[in-house]
Amino acid sequence: MAKSAVLPCLLLLISSIMSRAAANNGHRPSNSGQIRLDCGASASATDSDGRAWDSDAVPRSATPMAAGVAAAASYQDPSLPSFVPYMTARVFTSSYTYSFLVSSGRVFLRLYFYPSDYGDRAAADSLMGVTAGRLTLLHDFNVSQTALGLNHASLVLEFSVNVSSGRSLDVTFRPSSASTYAFVNGIEIVPMPDIFTVPVPTLANGERPDRMPLPADTAFQTMYRLNVGGEAISPGDDSGRFYRRWDTDTQYMWGVAEGVHYRKDPNVTIKYPPSVPPYIAPVAVYATARSMGPAAQVNLNYNLTWILTVDAGFYYLLRLHFCEIQFPITKENQRSFDIYINNQTARQSMDVILLSGGSGVPVYTDYLIITTGSGQTDLWIALHPDVTTKPQYLDAILNGLEVFKLQRYDSNSLAGANLLIPQKQAPGKPNTKSAVVSVAAGGLLAVLISCLCGAYAIYTCRRRRKAALEQSHGLPGTAESSALFNN
Ligand SMILES: *[C@@H]1O[C@H](CO)[C@@H](O)[C@H](O)[C@H]1NC(C)=O
Ligand SMILES: *[C@@H]1O[C@H](CO)[C@@H](O)[C@H](O)[C@H]1NC(C)=O
Ligand SMILES: *[C@@H]1O[C@H](CO)[C@@H](O)[C@H](O)[C@H]1NC(C)=O
Ligand SMILES: *[C@@H]1O[C@H](CO)[C@@H](O)[C@H](O)[C@H]1NC(C)=O
Ligand SMILES: *[C@@H]1O[C@H](CO)[C@@H](O)[C@H](O)[C@H]1NC(C)=O
Repeated sequence: MAKSAVLPCLLLLISSIMSRAAANNGHRPSNSGQIRLDCGASASATDSDGRAWDSDAVPRSATPMAAGVAAAASYQDPSLPSFVPYMTARVFTSSYTYSFLVSSGRVFLRLYFYPSDYGDRAAADSLMGVTAGRLTLLHDFNVSQTALGLNHASLVLEFSVNVSSGRSLDVTFRPSSASTYAFVNGIEIVPMPDIFTVPVPTLANGERPDRMPLPADTAFQTMYRLNVGGEAISPGDDSGRFYRRWDTDTQYMWGVAEGVHYRKDPNVTIKYPPSVPPYIAPVAVYATARSMGPAAQVNLNYNLTWILTVDAGFYYLLRLHFCEIQFPITKENQRSFDIYINNQTARQSMDVILLSGGSGVPVYTDYLIITTGSGQTDLWIALHPDVTTKPQYLDAILNGLEVFKLQRYDSNSLAGANLLIPQKQAPGKPNTKSAVVSVAAGGLLAVLISCLCGAYAIYTCRRRRKAALEQSHGLPGTAESSALFNN
């Protein structure tokens, strides 16, 4: 790739830079504290959720302006959620740092990527690293490959980082090699309260579930955010004005055992208790749920199971949202169930009414799980009726599920292997029970695995990452061995 090529179709932003950068040495937030940069755009614009985006006027204090050029995407995929911020990008052939002047505390940092040819740079030639201060967010990240693997036209990667007081948030994009380039379409920063360290999560690995506090400055990456049994919630409909996206859960259900999904009785009102501020999750999450079904004998013979693919070698925080929303479950010990994570008991005798205090009252519980190895692995979240307390109904319920990856402290990194998370497709699902399930699921799995193996073989040849990883129950990463995800 000719590094010096500057194309006629690139939109140069000199005039807007000259007018905006004069007094600034970094990007300043608006009144709400939120920042949205439509990278490579020539003017401010609004997206389909009503969010206003500013063009990314390049601050003068950072690396030379030549490091980044504004470019327009060559093609608008019809499934792009919005023109803004995806259709313009800033393309970097050398390292470039955006400095954000944010107040200290925790923020959501979202990076928007649309793999496209930008000028004469082919989508497939992009490979980059991204850091936030000393923390590695992405390493040798291939946007095209990830988008292909997810079967998405574009990607939004959401991180949560704690910014120390007196420091700017410095986000650096760096091409992985001289023949590759880095780019970004949009950067969004949304200040948030500390939603992670309270309550103290339960470590689900090992014989006895135990509490394990997290360091307050831990960085997270959102892996999944599901409105279980409900519909997708667009960022504009999120609570707390955090602009989170909540997806449906059906595609992550194991086999045909999807149970039943339903919404609240009309006479039930969702009442947030002081321990669950409304910004934790919108009403729409708690107002819909999935249960096992009405037949106790059937329920005793299966687990209501979600399977979520994640990067191996990290700790994960799993947040399970609950709310009883239908008659007749209004009293304690009507419905009680066990929660298994990766086949280990995370919680016994979960009684939502007992924990929340009543029908329509939300509650959530947090679990930590350690994954080992490299590449990707599956998290199994399974619910099964609890018989020990002799509840009135043998059933289970779940309203929402979030999965966050924790930074590794040994390598100061959140970057996983550059591999695909294949979508488990709903249309490929069989609709009769048990035996057929495993055969069909096996077939689907075989296809997924062969895709994965192909890509993975190439990847491991190049990287030869070691799988050895010592497991510990100490603080995240402290006793883990090799810096697997850092070269
Ligand atoms: C990125 O991934 C795509 C699809 O797997 C591949 O064709 C391309 O060569 C990769 N790019 C780089 C620079 O590795
Ligand atoms: C950020 O980290 C500091 C410790 O470095 C901690 O005192 C503070 O509570 C954290 N803030 C949030 C919002 O997590
Ligand atoms: C709420 O509505 C359901 C039907 O939707 C009904 O069975 C139940 O008795 C009602 N509960 C109250 C307290 O009115
Ligand atoms: C959990 O158990 C199932 C079935 O026994 C098995 O296929 C799966 O690999 C296990 N998952 C984990 C994470 O150990
Ligand atoms: C449910 O999952 C647990 C943990 O993996 C397992 O021990 C149990 O056998 C499963 N039950 C059924 C009915 O599949």
